Amino acid sequence: MGNTGIMLRDGALEGKHIIVTGGGSGLGKSMSEVFLRLGAKVLICSRDENKLRQAARELAETTGGTIIYKACDVRDYEAVKDTLTYGVEQLGYINGLVNNAAGNFVSPTERLSPRGFDVIIDIVLKGTKNMTLAAGKYWIEAGVRPVSVVNIVTTYAFTGSGYVVPSAAAKGGVLAMTRSLAVEWAKYGMRFNAVAPGPFPTKGAWDRLLPGHLKEKFDPAKRVPLGRVGEHIELANLVSYLLSDYSAYVNGEVIVIDGGEWLYGAGQFNAFEQITDEEWDVLEQLIRAKNRKA
Ligand code: HXC
Ligand code: NAP
Repeated sequence: MGNTGIMLRDGALEGKHIIVTGGGSGLGKSMSEVFLRLGAKVLICSRDENKLRQAARELAETTGGTIIYKACDVRDYEAVKDTLTYGVEQLGYINGLVNNAAGNFVSPTERLSPRGFDVIIDIVLKGTKNMTLAAGKYWIEAGVRPVSVVNIVTTYAFTGSGYVVPSAAAKGGVLAMTRSLAVEWAKYGMRFNAVAPGPFPTKGAWDRLLPGHLKEKFDPAKRVPLGRVGEHIELANLVSYLLSDYSAYVNGEVIVIDGGEWLYGAGQFNAFEQITDEEWDVLEQLIRAKNRKA
């Protein structure tokens, strides 16, 4: 287990006014809590206004920080612009963005309707595009700098994965957008980075990716060389760093935080960890015997 405290010093995010899409639940909520504790002001947005209201009230109480919310479907560019305008009016300016909202579910691709495929692309890729484009235009126009954008992707953004193909395609697109804008908009004082988490238990993800008996059958912790799932604070610390001025020279990066999970899946012989010491004794003799004959 790692250190479960907040990594950055008190006040490290003072002056940061951050929009967190999907900030009313799961990882978005956990990250928002840490941003608030570090002195940031936060606007959370998603579709469900009741959930946002409850989360904002809870986080304001527990952290004493300034948190506002706005119902917003990130698929709707006008709603996204309204959310940004609301944030600027209420908080004075916005200079941080975490594109965290997502939709996802497991399904064999051939079972998907065109709309079932689109809904994921629309939330993840177009939603991130909508927020990024609206905020980018505002940052350029208003001359706000420095700015930090963090896009939450996944490791299958670069490996690909079956059974979550719309999500993989969308997250791959978000990663390409991250790297592209890191170059193009650096001249305006904006940094773009991505974070690729491995398994971090949340209700939203587990209900849709590991329904029913799949939780036991495909226990995510068993795929992680470090033998455990992630703690929300570990992700929140990393993203806080990327939003802070401590990371001022980090731009266009994707940081994986997965306990080694994707490399475990990538190494062709990693499954050999199931072989016992006794079996290895026999196998070694077999190989050595062949070596002598050669
Ligand atoms: C096949 C499905 C389906 C399923 C929905 N659809 N669920 N198709 N299998 N299990 C189809 C519907 O039939 C419909 O197509 C289309 O998708 C849209 O469905 P709606 O219910 O109308 O969509 P909507 O209400 O907008 O809800 C969006 C959603 C839902 C994505 C389907 O799950 C949602 O609200 N998700 C938000 C939260 C979330 O997904 N969190 C998890 C993120 S985890 P038709 O043709 O019938 O109209 C994550 C982790 C990544 O990203 C990495 C992990 C390691
Ligand atoms: P989650 O709680 O389901 O978070 C998704 C959030 O997105 C919800 O708050 C949801 O709120 C919001 N959202 C969905 N559709 C939206 C829309 N159209 N407009 C605005 N908001 C919308 O799941 P999570 O696990 O915390 O996921 C957070 C992020 O981490 C996602 O980007 C996910 O891909 C990524 N991730 C998670 C894991 C993991 O193990 N948990 C691993 C890798 C990557 P509403 O329903 O109110 O709209």
